[in-house]
Amino acid sequence: MTSFYLSKPYDPPQAPENLPLERPWALLGGISPKSFMKSYWHKRPLLVRGAIPAFELAKQMGESLNSAISPEELFKIAGKDVVESRLIKAKPWSFSDGPFKKTSIPALDLPDWTLLLQGMEARHPAAAKVLSWFRFIPDARLDDLMISIAGPGGGVGPHFDSYDVFLIQMSGRRRWRISEQKDLTLNTELPLKILQHFKAEQEWDLEPGDMLYLPPHVAHDGISLDAGCQTWSVGFRAQSYKELLQEGLWRLAESLEDIPELEKHFADPKQAATSSAEQLPEEIIRQVAQKLKDLKLDRVATFLPGIAAYLSEPKPQAFFAGPTQEYSPEEFKDSLKTQALRPHPQTRLLALGKTIYCNGEDMTSGQTASIQKAWRSLAASKQVQGNLGGAPAESSLFEAFEAGWLIF
Ligand code: SIN
Ligand code: CO
Repeated sequence: MTSFYLSKPYDPPQAPENLPLERPWALLGGISPKSFMKSYWHKRPLLVRGAIPAFELAKQMGESLNSAISPEELFKIAGKDVVESRLIKAKPWSFSDGPFKKTSIPALDLPDWTLLLQGMEARHPAAAKVLSWFRFIPDARLDDLMISIAGPGGGVGPHFDSYDVFLIQMSGRRRWRISEQKDLTLNTELPLKILQHFKAEQEWDLEPGDMLYLPPHVAHDGISLDAGCQTWSVGFRAQSYKELLQEGLWRLAESLEDIPELEKHFADPKQAATSSAEQLPEEIIRQVAQKLKDLKLDRVATFLPGIAAYLSEPKPQAFFAGPTQEYSPEEFKDSLKTQALRPHPQTRLLALGKTIYCNGEDMTSGQTASIQKAWRSLAASKQVQGNLGGAPAESSLFEAFEAGWLIF
């Protein structure tokens, strides 16, 4: 392997705003995003050699290309307490949570360790760009981009995830062994989620630029073959139905606070004399059914705002600081004419029709048309710039900017 320091860092391109969904793409092994979703997504693994052709091209030209992020930069990031990081050692298995001092991370050529860094899209523009390639998959499904860096032999052991994951090899080689085995029993004696009986069915050595897509529950084991092996994993989460319904329902329950009419007490002037006093009265059942119907609580559309708000919640570790320079609402509106406003890398945006949710909150209801339009552009294109016209300077856009959710 060529040393990191003699090679050029790979500069990933930002994906075009409108990804061509029907065009074959090297990233997906020469098939279109449309065919990938139809044949592989959430169904079966796909190995892609040369998913990032730049690595092979560089090799042909006698150049050496390496990860966009150097080991030093990764170690520095591992030292921050706002970053979720884990250090895993094999033989015997052990693990610890970060932050890590540089001195507690083994040297690159020492064997059997790996360092995992979550949420890297918020820490390095190259990781954010790589993530932009996957916007043919709904944002609501996205979890984050994790980077692992390892010494030879390093890995997290044979396991399975409940996530869809694209494992992109960015530096050094990694041997991936996978199995679609039914037996997913974990070894309860280990501090990590490691399968008790892993029987590899397929095995490949991935070179820089290669990629392996795995749907949930495919058992896999990736072992680093080189010092400083880097794998970038783009992970897509899927919540349990219980989580979706509970989160949607409690937000819906909270929204009933805003309906003064519901403060009125139940009245039963029509209650007849009863011989079964222990039974819940018919009158309550009838009236509650009517209320559910009047408030459309018996329709799925009523639950969706709560679910959309929930799915737009940022990661629990997300940290937003307001702008460093103070802006009045008018100065903010003026700046927007010449500067693009973008979501902070840890901000999550989600649209439900024309309503936009940002970090768990509805940002568009009750706002003027031009503010609503700005939010729709932020959600769809991840940026907005221009004249807000007659929109009031005080708006949900300004509030989100003040909170550090949106940045210039
Ligand atoms: C790794 O990058 O080392 C582990 C990723 C995974 O197996 O999920
Ligand atoms: Co995994």
